[in-house]
Amino acid sequence: MKHFNIAVIPGDGIGREVVAEGVKILKAIEKRDSEISFSFTEFPWGCEYYLKQGKMMDEDGIDQLKSFDAIYLGAVGYPGVPDHISLRDLLIKIRREFDQYVNLRPVTLLNPSLTPLKEKTEKDIDFLVIRENSEGEYAGAGNWLYKGKPEEVVLQTGVFSRKGTERIIRYAYEEARRSKRTLTSVSKGNALNYSMVFWDEVFEEVGKEYPDVETYSYLVDAASLYFVSDPERFEVVVTSNLFGDILTDIGAAITGGMGLATGANINPEKKYPSMFEPVHGSAPDIAGKGVANPIAAIWSVSQMLDFFGEAKWGKAVLSTIQEMLKDTEQLTSDMGGNASTSDVGDLFVELLID
Ligand SMILES: NC(=O)c1ccc[n+]([C@@H]2O[C@H](COP(=O)([O-])OP(=O)(O)OC[C@H]3O[C@@H](n4cnc5c(N)ncnc54)[C@H](O)[C@@H]3O)[C@@H](O)[C@H]2O)c1
Repeated sequence: MKHFNIAVIPGDGIGREVVAEGVKILKAIEKRDSEISFSFTEFPWGCEYYLKQGKMMDEDGIDQLKSFDAIYLGAVGYPGVPDHISLRDLLIKIRREFDQYVNLRPVTLLNPSLTPLKEKTEKDIDFLVIRENSEGEYAGAGNWLYKGKPEEVVLQTGVFSRKGTERIIRYAYEEARRSKRTLTSVSKGNALNYSMVFWDEVFEEVGKEYPDVETYSYLVDAASLYFVSDPERFEVVVTSNLFGDILTDIGAAITGGMGLATGANINPEKKYPSMFEPVHGSAPDIAGKGVANPIAAIWSVSQMLDFFGEAKWGKAVLSTIQEMLKDTEQLTSDMGGNASTSDVGDLFVELLID
């Protein structure tokens, strides 16, 4: 019997609504598979908590989370709390403290009707973006000088350490080798003459250890164009924190939008828990109405199961999503249907392919 301890942080807005559906799916799996069990511990952290307590999470929140096998997060952010506080004091804090330096973002089209790209099908859009998740432009390094004066200057430093750059690039080569796919590095060496020249050099250096992996290197502007015009060029993509953040939203747009996009924040060494989350935010415009699309949160469950080594169930969840997408009427309104968030979760459990 394998047991997995999951910390659940529903967060704010629709985060709470969609995470409830993901937990429903995990409980259904537990019922069907006598070899697996899960326990769930919920944490009330987020913006509502901040408005009452003046902090996004408990002071010792990181210690409280340390012993879990995984963290399942909904979304954080709500009007009334500045976004840079909600994001940095919870989401980014967890990513950083737990050294979740790999962000895995599948860009997989599960149904041809979902892409706005003309004549592209499932076989054209099926790749994995591996985004550096711990440093780069999001390291939080910089300065704000002469605030409010005419000579005001702000500096946002991109931090690219040898260790941080090498480990993400090596992770991507390993993934490309394991899955026998090509690897594309996305950078911007022509304009960013320190950080991205360094990135390109490390990509080449590490590549010497992987002569079996076919590689490509694109500037980020060209890569953005190809994501839309020629997505079939990509199989595994590795890129920096900022470029990855932007490119993966293009990835979401070409595969069905925010209601379907998922992301895993991985600490590959498993020294700390990894975190699984839908990519979308708390959507205050639709929160509390029961109409949020839970599929992205359910896809996160598939990533979590893969990470636990339960690939059979990871695949089962993904195949069930694919099955459900065939009939958009049974989905939420963003997908053209009229179902509620919990209707989608209930139907998913009914259809779960095992
Ligand atoms: N990972 C996170 O926790 C995360 C990510 C992005 C934004 N945020 C925060 O969320 C708040 C709102 O941000 P935003 O409006 O820019 O982005 P958002 O993703 O919350 O919403 C953007 C649009 O997409 C729609 N949408 C998003 N998810 C949906 C779903 N599952 N089903 C149906 N429609 C969905 C929303 O209704 C909205 O119209 C902000 O406070 C922001 O900081 C948090």
